[in-house]
Amino acid sequence: MLSDKMENALNGQLNAEIYSGYLYLSMNAYFKSINLDGFANWMYYQAQEELAHAMKFYDFIISRGGHVKLARVDAPPNIWDSPLAVFEATLEHEQKVTGLINDLVELALEEHDHASNIFLQWFVSEQVEEEENVGGVLEQLKLMGEAKGGLFMMDRELAKRSSGGGAQEAD
Ligand code: FEO
Repeated sequence: MLSDKMENALNGQLNAEIYSGYLYLSMNAYFKSINLDGFANWMYYQAQEELAHAMKFYDFIISRGGHVKLARVDAPPNIWDSPLAVFEATLEHEQKVTGLINDLVELALEEHDHASNIFLQWFVSEQVEEEENVGGVLEQLKLMGEAKGGLFMMDRELAKRSSGGGAQEAD
């Protein structure tokens, strides 16, 4: 059985994961609008991954006998200055999510809620991967500077992603 405090915190994270999905879908639309379809593809699968994260929280709350409370999802931005600005915002967002996950782990430890702690450990590892993946793209964008050729090469590379994790086939 979840405590009320843990139930509310898990519902908060469910909302945050859905917001992440919204944010990356908005970034997908931005990249589509500037004809960087490979970057758009990467964001499309990133958005799907976030919705899968949200469903993990949804299912866990229910399996613990808790009450899912869906709340309003904030509107994400829909315009950025450049691909670099998008990935700076993405890394900043993922770092924020890492902080939220760490706070949840702290709460689980405080409450001696071992089941929640074990559930959250997957997200602790996932955030390491998320920050690494996003940071990798950001570093490449920084190295490239203003070179248009590099941007198109990266676009072709990011077009290969075809799932929630890792670089694979284009859609
Ligand atoms: Fe669900 Fe990107 O963290």
